[in-house]
Amino acid sequence: MATHYLKERTLHPVYELAADLMIDFRSLSRPGDVSHRLPGASTKIQPLYGSTTLPAYHRDMEQALTWLREAQSICVLTGAGVSAESGIPTFRGEGGLWRRFRAEDLATPEAFATDPKISWEWYDWRRQVIAKAQPNPGHLALVELERRVPTFTLVTQNVDGLHHRAGSRNVIPVHGDIWTVRCLECAYSHKDERAPLPEIPPRCPAAAVLLRPGVVWFGESLPVEPWRAAEAAAGKCDLLLVAGTSAVVMPVGGLVGKARHAGARVIEINADQTRISNTVDLSLRGPFGDILPQLLSAVPIQHAQEIKD
Ligand code: APR
Repeated sequence: MATHYLKERTLHPVYELAADLMIDFRSLSRPGDVSHRLPGASTKIQPLYGSTTLPAYHRDMEQALTWLREAQSICVLTGAGVSAESGIPTFRGEGGLWRRFRAEDLATPEAFATDPKISWEWYDWRRQVIAKAQPNPGHLALVELERRVPTFTLVTQNVDGLHHRAGSRNVIPVHGDIWTVRCLECAYSHKDERAPLPEIPPRCPAAAVLLRPGVVWFGESLPVEPWRAAEAAAGKCDLLLVAGTSAVVMPVGGLVGKARHAGARVIEINADQTRISNTVDLSLRGPFGDILPQLLSAVPIQHAQEIKD
């Protein structure tokens, strides 16, 4: 059984204080409110090569290109950073959710049991933000990559459904889906994409008890079959692409070690340095929505195999 937990406390004391002040998110419930965007990210990140020198950057991109061309089986692991360019806040980056709210007050079974209304107000607000978002060039490039390689698996920590909306097929949402609601008592489980929800907290039409969001909370086990499939894909691929994740949340962050252990090459694409940047084969710095489309534009259309349709 694989339980969802944080590898290390990443919140700096100052942020804990801010979180303790419990900024009232209800005042933020206007989807598309600019403050939800990743403030400064587009200016702070030196698009395409961060602190790396241009020659070094070109060398790294060339290397990534060679490995992409050679790969027969690719596994991609995505995190909140891939959806950041669609206007969805990340968790730990600048303007991230866990810098404004306390995970233990909103995203644990205990928090939900203590105050389901607050927890649902928060999920309803996130659903409204996501409902306004569109897949970005990074999502679309992954759809194209899937068409070009014989074996492709997309393991995502994101619950926003944007990979599916972009057209990706072999997607494993290991942290669940924010658009699914489940009954706390009976087997009722349903896709409900209304944003905002007409009733907070929503109730089960069968059992008349509370519904919960279909996401994995901290301290909960990951769904067995999707997790097994994710582990198998990471353990069998010859190239693992780690995109837009801080890789601090386990057990998913451990897929990097699993792939490396099985002999795969690992390429990280991230706007910032992360916990794994010094352990992967290649770490490309910059917006995912810039870097993968660029790499793809240099991968031959006909990748020695029939394009999968
Ligand atoms: N392109 C590439 N990387 C980006 C971009 C971008 N445009 N914008 C931000 N990033 C990077 C950040 O530098 C950071 O390393 O994305 C990462 C986002 O990390 P987190 O906010 O920690 O999100 P994630 O890794 O997905 O969190 C994992 O934690 O809170 C739980 O269940 C939740 O699935 C989530 C899990």
